[in-house]
Amino acid sequence: MMARSWEPWHSARAMRCISCGHVHGLREVIYRCGACGDLLDVLYPRPAEAGASLAATFRHRQSSDRLVDRSGVWRFRELLPFYDDESQIVTYPEGNTPLLDAPRSSQYAGLRRLRFKHLGFNPTGSFKDYGMVAGVTQARILGMRAVACASTGNTSASLAAYAARAGLAAIVLVPETGVSFAKLSQSLDYGALTIMVRGDFDQAQNLLRRLAPRLGIYILNSVNPFRLEGQKTVMFELLEQLGWRAPDRIVVPGGNLGNSSSFGKALRELEDLGLLSKRPRITIVQARGAAPLSEAYESGHSERLVTVHANTLATAIKIGAPVSWKKAARAVDWSDGWVTSVTEQEIADAKAMIGRDGIGCEPASATTLAALRRLAAEGTDEQVDPDENVVAILTGNVLKDPDYTVRYHQSSLYEEYRSETRMIDHGPALASAFANPPVVVDATEAALAEAIETRLHMR
Ligand code: F0G
Repeated sequence: MMARSWEPWHSARAMRCISCGHVHGLREVIYRCGACGDLLDVLYPRPAEAGASLAATFRHRQSSDRLVDRSGVWRFRELLPFYDDESQIVTYPEGNTPLLDAPRSSQYAGLRRLRFKHLGFNPTGSFKDYGMVAGVTQARILGMRAVACASTGNTSASLAAYAARAGLAAIVLVPETGVSFAKLSQSLDYGALTIMVRGDFDQAQNLLRRLAPRLGIYILNSVNPFRLEGQKTVMFELLEQLGWRAPDRIVVPGGNLGNSSSFGKALRELEDLGLLSKRPRITIVQARGAAPLSEAYESGHSERLVTVHANTLATAIKIGAPVSWKKAARAVDWSDGWVTSVTEQEIADAKAMIGRDGIGCEPASATTLAALRRLAAEGTDEQVDPDENVVAILTGNVLKDPDYTVRYHQSSLYEEYRSETRMIDHGPALASAFANPPVVVDATEAALAEAIETRLHMR
């Protein structure tokens, strides 16, 4: 599927529909095209600076003491100039996340060169902060009093923190079951009105969309194109870390599909500015039980999305009706990428392997390694060459979902949540091939020595 308009710039700052091209004012409180209802891009005139000179401007700011220069988002502000004056900018600061070597994971995937860009090193522990800082900045410019989102837990944590920093009221809607306690604890602690909806993420998102205009609330889900402007900077940062030499492939988990959408827009802009040496293939990975876009690609009909009733233990991406799927498909097609899905078992084992590299991540992030291992070995739906230079995006910190991790290592991770008890104790047990269970000992030297010598095979 090729979107009709993929021109990266516009004569003036504006929002433009990705389908019919209708142009809307930059300060309209809208999330979709007033003419046809499709998604909007935020667009700007082509920046005056490009290529090496622009790269030098970005680089130079790293040694500045100003917060807007130190932010991994606003450091790249020539490419997201939707504010009128720098005093409007909100920053924590955020971003500046590491690019990590991962020898065990590389070997597990059968790849020569795999690195992880770990977005979990953000103030609230997930990639959401990159986009939220831009969304909250726009909310402040618009003079909104309250911001809101539906969330599987990470968007809500980020929105709650950034709204608090910016002095805005925050409302978050999360599904009553299946949101990790770690994420829930964040929105409570940051003072957001936290509403647990008896329904799933997709229902919560629909409710909010209908109600927000009536209550004068600004929606900061990734349907909001200003969120995606902030998330573009993940790519700017990554390319800068790589000396502006693009990798062959970028692998990213897919839920509501905002991340992949923003990566496509970012790379499209960099290409036009002479800062992209080649188009990295954007490869999106969904959980098998929440894989509507992957199913569309596998069926050969990427122009049509059939929504599903989502189910996965990777609760961050338990989404059956992803809002940004058309933008994500545009990015995949432009980059000659692919969309695939992985099983619960593949996710669980890949997550443990990322842990063994001393990195760790939440389950949704591990879909990336899980997919690479299968695609490099089998090349079933898409062949990944072992010699490719691959960057996988880890979206959330390991501490975001400790329950999942502990259960895996204790060999008590089951395929489904039981919603009545809110426990993962339903369906077949997953195999814990890389389990590292805790050992309980009596408080004696002999018992302790025995435990150490046995587990570490020291005898
Ligand atoms: N990884 C993590 C850790 C997430 O929290 C999410 C989405 C994704 C991946 C998927 O990203 O939506 O851009 O494709 N979490 C959202 C939330 C839905 O509410 O926290 P996407």
